Amino acid sequence: MSISNLLVTGGAGFIGTNFVRHVLRKRPNWRIVNLDALTYAGNLASFQDLARDPAARHRFVHGAIQDSALLDQLFTEEAFDAVVHFAAESHVDRSIFGPEAFVDTNIVGTFRLLEASLKHWQKSHKPMDFRFLHISTDEVYGSLGPAGHFTEQSPYDPSSPYSASKAASDHFVRAYFRTYGLPAIITNCSNNFGPYQFPEKLIPLMILNIMEEKVLPVYGDGKHVRDWLYVIDHCDGLVRVLEEGRPGETYNIGGGAERQNIDVVHLLCLLLDVRLERSGRKASRNLIQFVTDRPGHDRRYAIDATKIKGELGWSPAHKFEEALEATVDWYLANMDWVEMVRSGEYRKWIEINYGDR
Ligand code: NAD
Ligand code: DAU
Repeated sequence: MSISNLLVTGGAGFIGTNFVRHVLRKRPNWRIVNLDALTYAGNLASFQDLARDPAARHRFVHGAIQDSALLDQLFTEEAFDAVVHFAAESHVDRSIFGPEAFVDTNIVGTFRLLEASLKHWQKSHKPMDFRFLHISTDEVYGSLGPAGHFTEQSPYDPSSPYSASKAASDHFVRAYFRTYGLPAIITNCSNNFGPYQFPEKLIPLMILNIMEEKVLPVYGDGKHVRDWLYVIDHCDGLVRVLEEGRPGETYNIGGGAERQNIDVVHLLCLLLDVRLERSGRKASRNLIQFVTDRPGHDRRYAIDATKIKGELGWSPAHKFEEALEATVDWYLANMDWVEMVRSGEYRKWIEINYGDR
């Protein structure tokens, strides 16, 4: 389908920032309105340079997806032909300490966004020329044993307040397609990594702790497995789903790179030791500490991406180790960004989550 005017929610967060940048580079005729509440995880610093886009293809709006009046106003002003919904509370550990914000943003916020989209889509003259793309997670499927993969048919079995809230939002999106015909599509992806990721998640947290010679806190035995997806590959997949995906469908997106956490941490230590010229007693792997496990910690995630590969011709273009190296280099070159996003609130979180381990 042909697209020209997108509402992107959560476009100042990690994946949203990469998506906005990717689209402005790859689709010169698309324009983006970026609605973001700028929580601790959203940062204007991530796209300062975009404000200078001479074609004004990026408009930032500071606001929450729960704000129905604001949504109405934006839909009326802009006549969007697609909504790409990233906005969420996204960190599992935070959902354990404070689940309510996850209910409020991920469930109530998604519901309000669906309502606004439905209202304006119903008034539209070209009803099939609209897409509501909901970005969700493989965590809705729960935990895998040592074998097998999540397919689009895997039953929902969320373990954390975060994944439970994302599962609820997926159910609402599916219901709006089945009940009202809203042309919605859901993607469930695996763990993303790459530039602009907030340093509360495993990879950027470890990179910064290694640089600063702090403890590297590995939960439990460190043998939990994640299926790593380079964020640029994810954004490429999302553009394909927007343009060619079928309304009412779900597409799983995975990197095909299953790694145990401890192996990821070891590799980061190696990559940074080369760059920081550390070895012997100073080698960064000496900073690793196995700490109390995350409650309800899912053991293994792995995506079967056969459907998106077969239907839309997508597969990840980057190898995990090369993309990880590029990510390490991005953080080393962008410490000014890191300093801007590490607010007082960030330091408070580190104290809450890691203080007594
Ligand atoms: P993030 O936490 O980095 O960014 C979330 C963004 O949403 C922030 O900019 C924040 O300010 C904004 N936001 C939060 N509440 C809002 C509200 N009420 N109204 C408007 N904006 C609000 O998250 P991310 O890692 O970029 O994830 C984006 C989406 O992808 C989320 O829906 C997440 O569940 C999903 N996802 C992420 C991953 C991953 O590995 N990061 C994997 C699978 C799915
Ligand atoms: O699978 C997709 C999900 O991936 C997304 O839906 C979430 O938004 C995203 O945060 C991510 O969830 P995880 O819990 O898998 O990511 P996180 O980076 O928090 O942790 C990755 C693994 O590393 C997990 O097994 C927990 C472990 N870990 C994490 C941190 C922060 C540690 O061992 N130590 C840590 O300090």
